[in-house]
Amino acid sequence: MAKGQGSQAEKMPKAAQEARLTEIERVALDGLGDLRDLEAVAERAQTFLGRNGEMNRALEHLVDLPREERAEVGRRANEVKGRLEHAFAAQREAIEARLLEGHLREEAVDVSLPGRPIGRGRVHPANRTLRQIADIWAEMGFAIYLSREVETDEFNFGLLNMPPHHPARDQWDTFYTTDPQVLLRTHTSPGQIHVMRQRAPAPIRVVLPGMCYRYEQVTARSEIQFNQVEGLAVGQRITFADLKGTLTAFARRLFGAQVATRFRAAHFPFTEPSAEMDIECFVCGGVGCVVCKGTGWLEVLGCGMVHPTVLANGGYDPTRFSGFAFGMGPERLTMLKHRIEDIRYFWGNDLRFLEQF
Ligand code: DAH
Repeated sequence: MAKGQGSQAEKMPKAAQEARLTEIERVALDGLGDLRDLEAVAERAQTFLGRNGEMNRALEHLVDLPREERAEVGRRANEVKGRLEHAFAAQREAIEARLLEGHLREEAVDVSLPGRPIGRGRVHPANRTLRQIADIWAEMGFAIYLSREVETDEFNFGLLNMPPHHPARDQWDTFYTTDPQVLLRTHTSPGQIHVMRQRAPAPIRVVLPGMCYRYEQVTARSEIQFNQVEGLAVGQRITFADLKGTLTAFARRLFGAQVATRFRAAHFPFTEPSAEMDIECFVCGGVGCVVCKGTGWLEVLGCGMVHPTVLANGGYDPTRFSGFAFGMGPERLTMLKHRIEDIRYFWGNDLRFLEQF
């Protein structure tokens, strides 16, 4: 299409101007229905109806015509313009409708689809054993007493008959806070002092479950944190026979009614006498195997008669009161039960391990 020069020399006659409008309309509408996006439609509208578009340029020639003809061509031009505006708008709407339909189809929600299953967590194997142990003791009349994990040196060691520089402290190195007198408990035994001071002179039957900490090389057999379940019975005329009978009853509930127990002499500063309780190896039945290292027995817990000094520190007169105490490790028991060879699995956070329980 020629550019409108508007020069006097090349006046454009009415017929030519009308033909040009017809041509503009034809080209503008040609293939309009095939345009697939709004930008293309906008571009075409700009080309024909924009300020410097074809229509406006065609109208620059109106001045070439006498008045009546000018009005006639002007009317024609407005008709074309109206039809083009209408056609562009219609195509825009068609495209928008198609886009909307596409979105609706893409984002459709199938309400009949079953929900995605939510992975349920489960109780950690060490906690499972801990709860099992606590349940057995509860059945046997022992209340659960929760004691603090952050302790003083005095409660963790001193009041348990381990004064400063006592050689037994070497067995239980721990993590200290900025205050050297405040530390993470190495065992649940300091809880014994807390219960006794709270209950004295009333009789006591409690178990104290909870987390303990030790500053140790982490190996397949030792971790820097682990659970313990402590037990304490204090009263009058409690004897070593009560200790043996009670702990054997416990072992039978945990490991089975037939299980045999034995008590070996041991040493703990807070009990006198002290012992360790073994059960007959449930893997080989006492014959000897890799699990019991050929001995036929598995060590289950430490125990003893509460030391008179500890009774006195708890507020009980050792000439009138006696008691027994014990301590066991749920992780160790879980390892025995499931033949887990490495204690590090408990804190490894490996789902392949955890999901087996
Ligand atoms: N506290 C001891 C430890 O961590 C375990 C223990 C042994 C607790 C004998 C007791 C006990 O109450 O009587 O190794």
